Amino acid sequence: MRDLTEERLADAVVERLANIPDARARRVLSALVQHLHAFAREVELTEAEWKLGIQFLTEAGQISSGTRQEVILLSDVLGLSALVDSINHRVPQGATESTVLGPFFVEGAPNLPNGADLTEGVDTSTAPGEPTWVNGRVLTLDGAPIADAAVDVWQTRPDALYDVQDDDHAMQMRAQFRTDAEGRFFFKTYKPVSYPVPKDGPVGGLLDLIGGHGMRPAHIHAIASAPGYRRVVTHIFPAGDEYLDSDTVFAVKDSLVADFREVTSAEEAARLGMPSPFLEVDFDFRLVPQA
Ligand code: BEZ
Ligand code: FE
Repeated sequence: MRDLTEERLADAVVERLANIPDARARRVLSALVQHLHAFAREVELTEAEWKLGIQFLTEAGQISSGTRQEVILLSDVLGLSALVDSINHRVPQGATESTVLGPFFVEGAPNLPNGADLTEGVDTSTAPGEPTWVNGRVLTLDGAPIADAAVDVWQTRPDALYDVQDDDHAMQMRAQFRTDAEGRFFFKTYKPVSYPVPKDGPVGGLLDLIGGHGMRPAHIHAIASAPGYRRVVTHIFPAGDEYLDSDTVFAVKDSLVADFREVTSAEEAARLGMPSPFLEVDFDFRLVPQA
């Protein structure tokens, strides 16, 4: 194995990978090497560019921590997270589509009863929130209710931050609900707001280079799950958000966009314990049976 040509180099590396016992690992790594080499050959990568790439990845690793994951953010802004999500969660027509999990999910959100108020304790002195009532059901593909399904939700506060972005990380605006006998869940919250992805690391530099706004359209994150069904990790996007067509992480799907309509009935507000007027959104999850 000497005097390898530019074209033969990748094959020589792949031949060496033949010793990897696991067939899937061998396949994935071999394809990765072939594509990396093909990329370098195609653009005739200069040494300065290669060094810059290595410096970028090094900085992404160095800024990452238990609460900050710059490499996932890189995958997000390159569309790779959305692609991997799509490949792994193909669903039949009518099922709720998935989208990226994002970095702000935390285990152990409080189990709250239906009707709970996620706005409690949220400081709105810098940004007043828009009180919103969320109604939804968890259903089979035929539209039958799924009782006792779990619905995890988390979202930004009106100040465009997630609780975990505070120094004290006290939980806010996240909960897990259980559906009732009709498959229903409902709660009070603030309308989510659009927000910038973290831009103080190397990925922020990349976004500046692209000239991108670095914004995500407003959304409520949700995970719906029930025994015997495939769990769906998704978002509910308010219709009309200015970033729906330019999401920094390419995660918007039309089927996940919902109307947050204004309710002006004072009677309805009183019945739900909402101020008047308020916003209301309906969003049903349709789960696919486990194979
Ligand atoms: C999020 O939706 O929480 C998110 C997703 C990808 C990158 C940054 C934030
Ligand atoms: Fe988010």
